[in-house]
Amino acid sequence: MASKSILVLHGPNLNLLGEREPQHYGNQTLEDINQALKNIASAKSIQLETMQSNSEADLVNKIQSLSKEKFDFLIINPAAYTHTSVAMRDALSAVKVPFIEVHLSNVYAREPFRHHSYFSDIAVAVISGLGAEGYVAALNFAINA
Ligand code: DQA
Repeated sequence: MASKSILVLHGPNLNLLGEREPQHYGNQTLEDINQALKNIASAKSIQLETMQSNSEADLVNKIQSLSKEKFDFLIINPAAYTHTSVAMRDALSAVKVPFIEVHLSNVYAREPFRHHSYFSDIAVAVISGLGAEGYVAALNFAINA
């Protein structure tokens, strides 16, 4: 049996982690987070791909390709698109690949516009406020799913 394949998708401005509002997003860079996830995955012989984009179109295109590329599970931090993107939600509904929505910060403890997500009601789970540990928890769940 082919090993499980998991995609971790990071939305806009997450390329700035480490320097961007560390009080909300911590000190780790996106590189650090991705590397930690890759180490966990490779220890369990799981195929893990990571991608970050600031472009909604690129994110929609990648989501559309999930089934064709044979990903079994998606971990996604849609970042600001969480609160705006009907297009990404529709793409996720279309491909039917299970996903966990991750936020580094606790979006419910922040501005009201961050309290609404276009993704949460169609996600397997939502993790918000655990910092980079949220990605690790999501990955462990996805590996065992
Ligand atoms: C975020 C929360 C979003 O509201 C924000 O726009 C982000 C990051 C988080 O990881 O806490 O860019 O998704």
